[in-house]
Amino acid sequence: MNTPADIRAHAAQLLVQVLNGRSLDAVLVNRDESAQERGLLRTLCYGTIRWYWRLQAVLEKLSSQPVNELDAEVRALALIGLFQLLHTDIAPHAAVAETVEAARNLKLSRATGFLNAILRRCQREAENITSLIDQQLSIRTAHPQWFVDQLQQDWPWHAEKILNANNAHPPFWLRVNLQRISRDDYAARLAEQGIIAQLSAHAPEALLLSQAMDVNALPGFDDGLVSIQDAAAQMAAHLLDAQANHRVLDACAAPGGKTCHILELQPALKELIAVDASDKRLRRVDSNLKRLNQNATLIIGDAATPQEWWNGELFQRILLDVPCSATGVIRRHPDIKLLRRSTDIDRLATDQAVMLAQLWPLLAPGGRLVYASCSMLKAENAHVIEAFLAEYPDAIDNTAVLIEKYNLHTIDSKSPGVVIQVGEGEMDGFYYACLDKR
Ligand SMILES: C[S@@+](CC[C@H](N)C(=O)[O-])C[C@H]1O[C@@H](n2cnc3c(N)ncnc32)[C@H](O)[C@@H]1O
Repeated sequence: MNTPADIRAHAAQLLVQVLNGRSLDAVLVNRDESAQERGLLRTLCYGTIRWYWRLQAVLEKLSSQPVNELDAEVRALALIGLFQLLHTDIAPHAAVAETVEAARNLKLSRATGFLNAILRRCQREAENITSLIDQQLSIRTAHPQWFVDQLQQDWPWHAEKILNANNAHPPFWLRVNLQRISRDDYAARLAEQGIIAQLSAHAPEALLLSQAMDVNALPGFDDGLVSIQDAAAQMAAHLLDAQANHRVLDACAAPGGKTCHILELQPALKELIAVDASDKRLRRVDSNLKRLNQNATLIIGDAATPQEWWNGELFQRILLDVPCSATGVIRRHPDIKLLRRSTDIDRLATDQAVMLAQLWPLLAPGGRLVYASCSMLKAENAHVIEAFLAEYPDAIDNTAVLIEKYNLHTIDSKSPGVVIQVGEGEMDGFYYACLDKR
C-alpha cells in the first residue's frame, strides 16, 4: 500500500522526468497501486502539468531562492503542493502535510522547512499573488508565452477561448462500430448499466459519456462493438468517404483509430494500406485491427519517401493525418505545453508540406486526399494547404461543400479547409482539408 505522501513523492519524480523532456504517457506506467492511489497520482501529475506555467509564476513570487536553482525534486514537490492548494478541493492542511512528508520519503528532509514555508505562505497570500500574475494571459491560462503569441496572431478573436478550453477536463468519446450495432442500440446497452451517453451532432457514430471509463467495463469492447476516439477525429473517415473497391492509403496511420474507422464505414474496399514510420506504433494498429476483426496491409515507411514502399498502383483515397504540434489536443495531453518548443513549428510545417507533395502523385485523377492535423496553428494547417494549392493546379479544395453535410463550421472561412475549434461540440481541436484531384 502507498501512503498519500508516497503518491506525492512518486508524482514529483514523474514531473521531473516530464520537465526533462519525456512524455507523461511514457512515464505514467502502471505500478503496484490501487485504483484510488492511481487516481490521485494521475490527478496530481495531470493537474500540476496542466497548470505548470501558472504554478511556476506563483512559486517565483513565494520563493526566496531563485526557482531554477532549486533541486529538481524539491521544485516539483513545491509545484505539486501549490497545485493542490490552488486547483483542488484537497483539504489544505492535508495538502501541506503530505507534500512535506513526501520530501522525507525522497530523502529531502533538508527541504521540508522550505516546502512548509512556501505552502503556508501560499495559503495566506494566494489571492494577492494570483490577482497580480493573472493579469497576464499566458499565466492566467497556464500556457507558454510563444504559444499564446502565436495563437493571438492566428486567432485574435478565439485565442482566449481556445486557451481556456485547453484546460478543461477532456470528454470521453466512443465510436460505435455500425457494422456490429447501431448507435442507439449501443447507447441502450450503456443505459442498462446506468451509463448515460449523449449523441454527437456531427459524427454519426459518436457517443459522449459523462465520465471516462476503463475500456474493459465497456460492453462488447473486446468484441469490437466500440472504440475510443474523439468525435473530431471521427470526421476523417467521413470526409474521406471511401467507396467499395477503392484502394485507400492511410499515410500516418498509427495507432490506427482512423484506419479502423475507414474500414468500419466501408468494408468492401479493394485494399487499405496503412503506413507509419514507427514499427512499435504500427503494432498498435495491428492489435486494433485484430480486436475489430478487420484487415489492412501494414507497411513501416516514411510518408515523405513513398518511392521506398509504393508499388505504383494509384489510390482513390489518401488520408494524410500528419505528425503535428498536437496543440488541438492539449486538454488530453497537457504535457504538450511543456514539451513543445516554438522552433518545432517551422520544422513540422516543412515536413507536412513535403509529405503532402510526395503523396499527391499517388492519388488517382478524381480521387480525394484528406489532410488532417490536430494542430490549432495556421502554420501547420491553412498555410500548408494554401502553398500546396498555389503549386498544384490539379488540386481543388472541396472541404466547404463536405462540412455542411456534418453540420460543422470553421472559425476560418477565408482559408481552405475546416478548423474545428477545441471544445466546439465537445470536440478536440482539428483541421481538415479535403483535396480532390481534377
Ligand atoms: C497524428 S498521429 C496519427 C494518428 C492516426 N492516424 C490515428 O488516427 O490513430 C501521426 C503518426 O505519424 C507517424 N509518423 C511520423 N512521421 C512519419 C513519417 N515521416 N512517415 C510516416 N509516419 C510518420 C507517427 O509515428 C504517428 O503514428
